[in-house]
Amino acid sequence: MSAIQLQTSDSSNRSLSQKILNLLEKSRYCPTGDNCQPWRFEINENQLFIFNDSKRGKHAFNLHHSATYLSLGTLIESLDISASEQDLQLKIELQNANPDHEALVKIQFIECQTNKNYLADFLYKRCTDRRPYFKEPLQEKIIKDLQALNSFENCTLAYSSSLSSEFRKFIVRSDEMVWLHEEIVIDLFRWIRLTNKDIETSDDGMPWNNLGLKWYDIPFLKLVAKYPSIPKKLWKLGFQAKVNTVCHDSLKNMGGTLAFFVKQTDRQSIIETGRLAMRVWLYITSIHQSMQPLSSASLIPYDITCGKKINFLLPDFHQHFLKAPSLFRNEYHIGRDWTPLWLFRVGQPKEKGDPPRTKRLPVEDLILNAHKN
Ligand SMILES: Cc1cc2nc3c(=O)[nH]c(=O)nc-3n(C[C@H](O)[C@H](O)[C@H](O)COP(=O)(O)O)c2cc1C
Repeated sequence: MSAIQLQTSDSSNRSLSQKILNLLEKSRYCPTGDNCQPWRFEINENQLFIFNDSKRGKHAFNLHHSATYLSLGTLIESLDISASEQDLQLKIELQNANPDHEALVKIQFIECQTNKNYLADFLYKRCTDRRPYFKEPLQEKIIKDLQALNSFENCTLAYSSSLSSEFRKFIVRSDEMVWLHEEIVIDLFRWIRLTNKDIETSDDGMPWNNLGLKWYDIPFLKLVAKYPSIPKKLWKLGFQAKVNTVCHDSLKNMGGTLAFFVKQTDRQSIIETGRLAMRVWLYITSIHQSMQPLSSASLIPYDITCGKKINFLLPDFHQHFLKAPSLFRNEYHIGRDWTPLWLFRVGQPKEKGDPPRTKRLPVEDLILNAHKN
């Protein structure tokens, strides 16, 4: 990091800008959809501007930017948590901007005494764990601790230790959606690294060995990457059965699900849900448990509930997702004024050790006003 010079800062502001760089260095391990890391940064004295890199963020799951705003929430929360180690506080101003061209958010950093947030120790360790978990439900105390992490009026979270058969079917059918739409398969495979060489040479995307895939799946998946209509063509010839088995297995092997709901469906509430989800994820990591988003059953249904158009979606799936709000509310005993936004499976991993750490882009490549020495 010391090799970066910021064009705008004079010597008196350099140490604060350096602190902001250090915060970005730690926070860049926050999760983003498919590890696309759709960010650009500008540091101006004590201010950080976060821009959306719309090419990176382009995804069939992200037509209305919900995934970008959730990811932005996880990034802001990471910055806030790591700022507590540097005696800095954040003043966050969402910008009323076109997310494709202008800064999404301006963050001002204010120097003041702070107490270190213990979650800072887990920013690097947190990961998406797609492996099987024990069936053990979360203890009451953990559920209370999770609720206590929530300081956002417009967000709430709910835990369920068991799945009703109707909700299970809903999740499995939502997972089928991924494979039956070429648009999604294309966007997904843009980020899956199917060879060890690809893993070594890229700082983004998802290594195949993090996705629960086996080496013998790879030749077939390389074909899917080249011909994304294959899953649909082979659907009734065994592919549906395979997709269903994988999904059922992951839902059998877990300690429950966590669902995040919003009261208002504006940008700020989505970002706050990302912040809350990040707090929860770090806390879960701190107690040696794991989480994995189940976005196919939550993000597109959220957009549809909000009346947004998903042009490519087969009519069947549109009908399927219209059921989402009532299914979620029944499953988690939540009132009608809450809209489901993000779903996770949660539990203690059966295997010991952590999954391999996914890589991140170097911060210096993401800073618009940096030049390297
Ligand atoms: C908005 C969003 C949606 C995501 N959806 C899924 C998902 O549906 N399934 C999944 O396994 N991981 C999902 N992820 C996790 C990302 O793939 C993961 O964060 C990224 O690959 C980086 O890996 P890491 O979390 O292990 O650091 C999602 C993450 C975000 C922020």
